[in-house]
Amino acid sequence: MIFDTYTPQMVDVHVKTIMELIKRGKSKEQIAKQLNLHDFDELCSVAKTRLTTTKTSEDYYLTEDDLRFATNELVAQYRAKRLACDTLVDVGCGVGIQTIAFARTCKRVIAIDIDKRKIRYALENAKKVDANNIEFIHADGLKALQNLVGADIVFVDPERAPEEKVRSFDTSFRPPLRQLIDASRKLTPSIAIELPPQIQKVDLDCEKEFISVDHSLNRLTVYLGDLKRHERSAVLLPGHHELTSDGSERPLRNSGALKYMFEVDPAVAKAGLSWKLGDEHTFLYSDERDTLLTSNTLLTSTHLKARYELVDAVENKFEDILAVLMWENAGKVVLRQKLAPDKYWTERRKYESRLRGDKTLHVFVFAHEALVCRKLEHERMDEPTRVMLGRMRPKASS
Ligand SMILES: C[S@@+](CC[C@H](N)C(=O)[O-])C[C@H]1O[C@@H](n2cnc3c(N)ncnc32)[C@H](O)[C@@H]1O
Repeated sequence: MIFDTYTPQMVDVHVKTIMELIKRGKSKEQIAKQLNLHDFDELCSVAKTRLTTTKTSEDYYLTEDDLRFATNELVAQYRAKRLACDTLVDVGCGVGIQTIAFARTCKRVIAIDIDKRKIRYALENAKKVDANNIEFIHADGLKALQNLVGADIVFVDPERAPEEKVRSFDTSFRPPLRQLIDASRKLTPSIAIELPPQIQKVDLDCEKEFISVDHSLNRLTVYLGDLKRHERSAVLLPGHHELTSDGSERPLRNSGALKYMFEVDPAVAKAGLSWKLGDEHTFLYSDERDTLLTSNTLLTSTHLKARYELVDAVENKFEDILAVLMWENAGKVVLRQKLAPDKYWTERRKYESRLRGDKTLHVFVFAHEALVCRKLEHERMDEPTRVMLGRMRPKASS
């Protein structure tokens, strides 16, 4: 481990040198040979992370693997505000991004992790930003919880596999979640748990809060005990735009595509709160693959990810879609279809090689129908000049 060999200052100097050499285009092998450093792979990983991460603004110590699980700083700060208290226990603190945010809003933080290297990284990261109110414990979370007396809140961020077909509350986490909850309840009923947003079912009396960052789904935090404020909530960062369930529900009905199509922020959709963005004339347009909102009114909401004017709805056939694109003078086409990255560009080029225009159109491909749409800027509030559903147009000749 780098801190067994070097002081933090030396680590920073070596990491900076490696970053410079990477920027100059040197390969990892060339740099290794040139510098001949102990623990080179680990130093190089920290350097790569510092070059690429958008999750933190500080030059923290993080390997590429740590980065994958580390909490985005915006999310960490938001949660730290929500969970501000006197004493907070952070189980599974990793390299400490969330822990450091807690240290800014809580009087005392007790941070536990079973991984010795991560605890050391977290300690050095805390020192870097003068977070002096954290006690780090290198131990199994369940055992450490049994030895603690009194805490206001326990926050749990358990380990899970990077990817799994099905995320299950009972089998996907280390330490096991139910045991963690039982152990935490001996300290306090106020428990917050970070879970992957894809988890199938959470059968706890809790608030489920979905968080998105820049309209990408980022986190699911569940709040137990008196931390629960609602059944479901959605928080959009940056900016902290919040939507919450309030007991009333108005299920959205399905409809054909209307004048406008809307992509809902994924945190709002996951929280089942899309219906709050429209009125009784707002409908769902969906199949098992994708869901949009549709309306004849141009909706305005920070909870919408994007807004589109419908140009035409046609059968999901290449020639039919191409005909609309040609007629509309498109030159570029953004395919809104689940395709592997290599297949995506092959498909897209099939259209673009036949197009000569200068417009960019978006095509949402559903099971039986394709919606050709023009993306609207969020600021643009003017009414569209025309909607050309079902009009006559020549077929594209092949
Ligand atoms: C998802 S990561 C935490 C990320 C961290 N909250 C952050 O913001 O960077 C899960 C952590 O749980 C730790 N862990 C796994 N099993 C554990 C156990 N039995 N006791 C304590 N920590 C454990 C792992 O070492 C890992 O650091």
